[in-house]
Amino acid sequence: MQITNLTVDNFRNHTHTTLQLSAGVNVLVGPNAQGKTNLLEAIYLSCVGRGWRAVRDSEMVQFGQERALVQVVAEKRFGKVDIAIQLGLGMKKSISINRIPITKVAELMGQINCIFFSPDELKLVKEAPADRRRFMNIDISQIDKSYFYALARYNKILQQRNASLKNNCTERELSVWDLQLIKQGEILIQKRQAFIQKLTPYVIEKHRALTGGKETIALTYETCANFEQDLQQAREKDLRLRTTTVGPHRDDLAILIDGKDVRVYGSQGQQRTAALSIKLAELDLFADLTGETPILLLDDVFSELDSSRQARLLTAVANHQVVITATDAPSVGKIFHIKNGQIVSQ
Ligand SMILES: Nc1ncnc2c1ncn2[C@@H]1O[C@H](COP(=O)(O)OP(=O)(O)OP(=O)(O)O)[C@@H](O)[C@H]1O
Ligand SMILES: [Mg+2]
Repeated sequence: MQITNLTVDNFRNHTHTTLQLSAGVNVLVGPNAQGKTNLLEAIYLSCVGRGWRAVRDSEMVQFGQERALVQVVAEKRFGKVDIAIQLGLGMKKSISINRIPITKVAELMGQINCIFFSPDELKLVKEAPADRRRFMNIDISQIDKSYFYALARYNKILQQRNASLKNNCTERELSVWDLQLIKQGEILIQKRQAFIQKLTPYVIEKHRALTGGKETIALTYETCANFEQDLQQAREKDLRLRTTTVGPHRDDLAILIDGKDVRVYGSQGQQRTAALSIKLAELDLFADLTGETPILLLDDVFSELDSSRQARLLTAVANHQVVITATDAPSVGKIFHIKNGQIVSQ
């Protein structure tokens, strides 16, 4: 799949910006703080219904404005798709697909698939389990809407269960939440396990290519052995700590290189290679599962790579549409110069 047009209005520092993207490599070039990453975020928003950095939708609305609009047209194997998202202060975002408003963000999932990669992505390997859960949640949601629904339900029930625990509820009240939590939680666990199992061979292959076969990578989803039993056993602790201490909201993904946990023992380079292998693996897995090649968004990755690695990376993603941000123009791709929230030349 390929995005042909992107238009944003009052989106972060862009008052009105429109670009026609090429099918191959597109580079957004400009000095710092001009609005390059903001455009990647707009694309990301049109794929998964939330901003890349934004915690709240309203953060993406231009300072002093009430509404922001992002419109994306993409070509897929079976025709065009046109996504429009309106964000506003004090309003729920409204989304339409081919001009028909949708009521649930889940309906947006899978319309346009993208993979976002930035130096920050090292977080995937290095930082807290929450980053790895977010990775699993966003990826599985893009390929499986029922996962997205289960996740939304699970989070809601979890919130209610935690609120009950804070209010010194009785054990009987807790049991009511437990039944629902277990039902949704088991869906999440099962789908995450299946996803990691599917992703692993792709990761192994990419990692082998990047390391020249010197190291072996493995992924393991770390979850409860039996959610129902574990929740039962943790009940006393939950009542004491007044929060839900077990469940998929506490799970993690272990990344091992030659049997050693790269989260703990990996060097910076090993962590980066592991993160990159996982990202490149996602591209292939998405393509195989959906029959469409996802769009790759690369934020600032060139600054960390020498020119031969830049070239190798671009070769690795040659059959995808790529949108890259950079401070210096590379020698490839369609170049857009960005200055102060505007395209100054193409
Ligand atoms: N809601 C908003 N309204 C107006 N401007 C905003 C808003 N949110 C962020 N900005 C501004 O957008 C500017 C550009 O941000 P962006 O992250 O896109 O820069 P960049 O070109 O990617 O820079 P760098 O090379 O440093 O990564 C920032 O200076 C920021 O102040
Ligand atoms: Mg940036």
